[in-house]
Amino acid sequence: MITIFAFLTTTLFAVVSADNECPYGYKFYPETAICYHVSEQLFDFDGAVNYCENTDGKLVSLIQGERQGVTNLTSHLFVQPWIASRRNLTTRVWYNIDGSVFITGQWASGEPTITNGNCATFRGKAETSGLQATQCYQQQYAFCKIVPNLCNGGVQNGSFGSIQSPQYPDHLTGNLTEQEFSSKGSLLLVVFRTNYVITDTGFYATWNVQRIQPPIVANETTSGELHSPNYPSNYNTFDKQLYYIQVKTGARINVTIDDFSTQPTFDFLEIYSSWNQTFTKPVTRISGNLTTPWTWLSPGNEVSLKFVSDGSQEYRGWHMLWSMVENE
Ligand SMILES: *[C@@H]1O[C@H](CO)[C@@H](O)[C@H](O)[C@H]1NC(C)=O
Ligand SMILES: *[C@@H]1O[C@H](CO)[C@@H](O)[C@H](O)[C@H]1NC(C)=O
Ligand SMILES: *[C@@H]1O[C@H](CO)[C@@H](O)[C@H](O)[C@H]1NC(C)=O
Ligand SMILES: *[C@@H]1O[C@H](CO)[C@@H](O)[C@H](O)[C@H]1NC(C)=O
Ligand SMILES: *[C@@H]1O[C@H](CO)[C@@H](O)[C@H](O)[C@H]1NC(C)=O
Ligand SMILES: *[C@@H]1O[C@H](CO)[C@@H](O)[C@H](O)[C@H]1NC(C)=O
Ligand SMILES: *[C@@H]1O[C@H](CO)[C@@H](O)[C@H](O)[C@H]1NC(C)=O
Ligand SMILES: *[C@@H]1O[C@H](CO)[C@@H](O)[C@H](O)[C@H]1NC(C)=O
Repeated sequence: MITIFAFLTTTLFAVVSADNECPYGYKFYPETAICYHVSEQLFDFDGAVNYCENTDGKLVSLIQGERQGVTNLTSHLFVQPWIASRRNLTTRVWYNIDGSVFITGQWASGEPTITNGNCATFRGKAETSGLQATQCYQQQYAFCKIVPNLCNGGVQNGSFGSIQSPQYPDHLTGNLTEQEFSSKGSLLLVVFRTNYVITDTGFYATWNVQRIQPPIVANETTSGELHSPNYPSNYNTFDKQLYYIQVKTGARINVTIDDFSTQPTFDFLEIYSSWNQTFTKPVTRISGNLTTPWTWLSPGNEVSLKFVSDGSQEYRGWHMLWSMVENE
């Protein structure tokens, strides 16, 4: 699972498949995430290449692993469609005209026959489907494809949700690694792109908004009070609030929590004996109910706090007093 945090108000674009992302006449095929189109008229090989180009597509070439899909798409046709492969008349070697690698294993049984021609069509109906050598002047269907640029999977807003790749999790092989990613602002664009050779499970991701409040810094006075957002009213979901206290060098900070109520486990307050929360462990993490007053004396002149709430159950939160204590 991938967890995505989007800050503040969130608009999120996901990418899934949709027929209407294909140009007119083309149909989206989820197995390969490609738009395909079969012409209504018949063409010779060069005519088919031109026809596809005029629809902004290109003649389909058989890429490794595509044979079953191409069989599915063309087996209803009475005339075999052109495939973008032909024979180099000098070397007698077959190649794909789009420059992709020609896979020799895709021939129908008994093919390629020398006499049948120097261009390729696809035989989908026979028991053994595959490429068949065909005279380039013969009249066959043009079988065109367009790789869609971006399928707009929709805009999500609100404070949490989930997105997934097309057909997830139909392909059950493969592995998922859990990852977390935080956006820098209130907008997150997720682009998922595949080629058409090997498919795998894809991804599933949850996202939620984190309300990052500007840090509260208390360092110019010798005492003060701090509290959770909105206190004594309930804090919000997905709150994240940092607090920093600093007193003069050599002095310490006396912390007293006189009220505390959060959702157990999921909404918590962490207290650090330093402003650096990345490289120090919290002195304590408080959650749920706390017997108040709770007091703690910092070892140094710095204290910082982190308050985090999740997506459900808002409570009253907490209230705290602090004061500078001079060493005797
Ligand atoms: C081909 O069609 C069959 C039956 O509709 C389907 O089970 C199979 O997944 C399809 N394969 C590909 C690669 O599209
Ligand atoms: C055919 O192969 C020869 C030798 O590799 C090459 O020079 C020529 O460009 C090829 N022709 C085509 C149409 O690709
Ligand atoms: C959020 O989604 C709702 C319902 O889909 C829509 O009415 C509203 O305009 C959206 N707000 C933004 C800022 O996109
Ligand atoms: C995913 O699984 C494949 C084979 O199952 C393995 O080779 C690969 O290292 C795994 N990748 C990760 C990131 O775990
Ligand atoms: C108090 O914090 C502000 C903002 O971080 C900083 O500019 C200032 O120097 C600090 N004052 C002391 C006495 O540390
Ligand atoms: C810390 O504050 C509490 C509550 O005000 C007080 O009872 C306690 O004596 C103070 N501790 C020190 C070391 O000042
Ligand atoms: C936190 O401490 C580490 C290790 O001393 C240091 O590399 C890092 O820059 C510090 N971070 C901040 C924000 O001070
Ligand atoms: C916490 O306090 C509330 C209200 O006083 C009470 O309903 C709840 O059972 C307490 N929870 C625990 C885990 O003690």
